[in-house]
Amino acid sequence: MIEIKNLSKTFKQKGGDVDAVQDVSLTVEDGEIYGVIGYSGAGKSTLVRCLNLLEIPDGGSLRVGDSPEMTFENGRAYIADKGGKRPMSRKEQNALRRGVGMIFQHFNLLDRSTVFENVAYPLRYSGMKKDAIRARVLEMLELVGLTEKKDVYPSQLSGGQKQRVAIARALASNPKILLSDEATSALDPDATAAILNLLKELNEKLHLTIVLITHEMAVIKTICRRVAVMEDGRVVEEGDVYDVFANPQTPIAKRFVASASALSKVDTLVESKSQLVQTKPGEKLIRLTFGNDCVGDHLITTVARNYNVDLNIVLANVEILQDSTLGGLVAILSGKEEDVAAALAYLNENHVGTEVLN
Ligand SMILES: Nc1ncnc2c1ncn2[C@@H]1O[C@H](COP(=O)(O)OP(=O)(O)OP(=O)(O)O)[C@@H](O)[C@H]1O
Ligand SMILES: [Mg+2]
Repeated sequence: MIEIKNLSKTFKQKGGDVDAVQDVSLTVEDGEIYGVIGYSGAGKSTLVRCLNLLEIPDGGSLRVGDSPEMTFENGRAYIADKGGKRPMSRKEQNALRRGVGMIFQHFNLLDRSTVFENVAYPLRYSGMKKDAIRARVLEMLELVGLTEKKDVYPSQLSGGQKQRVAIARALASNPKILLSDEATSALDPDATAAILNLLKELNEKLHLTIVLITHEMAVIKTICRRVAVMEDGRVVEEGDVYDVFANPQTPIAKRFVASASALSKVDTLVESKSQLVQTKPGEKLIRLTFGNDCVGDHLITTVARNYNVDLNIVLANVEILQDSTLGGLVAILSGKEEDVAAALAYLNENHVGTEVLN
């Protein structure tokens, strides 16, 4: 488990201090894939760098895996001890870092070392024997599907393959936690999908806890169970991915959800006064959202039949999120005013989200 309480980190600078992380509290359960999303500068990287003490927070407390609780004051780390606390030693900080693997957007591989040597690197000073290191590296390369590439140099690899090497290296010292900082944003869509699949597989096979940072909602949608949305150093929204998608609360979460939804195209259509969304008198442009508890029912045919209204579909989309369905429909609804109102009320009663756009 990762338990973050009231964590904060400020960068002191000449031009003015930057509060990169402000009062963040979060819990990541063992074995889950937890997403952190936010725009550039929101504080995502700083937050995860605090988790493996690459940055020492200024305030708050933290528990990572089996570690005792760490507290922070003015950029110093302390460990709970005998009812009080004592400064955390460098050795203890290094031990904590070894238990947390990390991968990055630009892979950070050693260009002059082979794939094998890159993966072996973190084991070199671990006291492991040469034979054991070799066995471990080969095991890691097999895990990420790169056995054949062990003797080539990073420049001879594709982006996706480089990221596999980085993953193998991050997991070589057998951490329970993997931090992934924009690890797919330099990859093309196919390579992104392959790396996300690999992370999911490792999560299941090794019971690996993954904290994954991204600015792409599609990535969150693909593999995360829970998500935190960051803005200006704070977590402004947090929850199950399905809930955040079905019902985003904050303006920023709404924007991220819209960015990954085929239905958000309707806003552009309305703005550009497209013919597709022009309504005649008596017609309404509506957006319907179907959650888990209503997809599959005959709601549309029922309203058409019972309320004497017509539905002209403009855009439609159904997705599967964590084995649950989430559907949306933009349509022009026409009929007598009271029938249209009654149809919308009926849909609402049956857990369909309704929004009149025009
Ligand atoms: N070492 C540093 N010194 C000073 N300011 C920093 C440092 N690292 C980050 N910052 C500032 O802290 C804020 C948060 O940065 P951070 O890198 O955590 O954002 P991010 O959400 O990861 O952004 P991106 O999506 O661009 O990677 C930014 O305003 C950034 O300029
Ligand atoms: Mg970043």
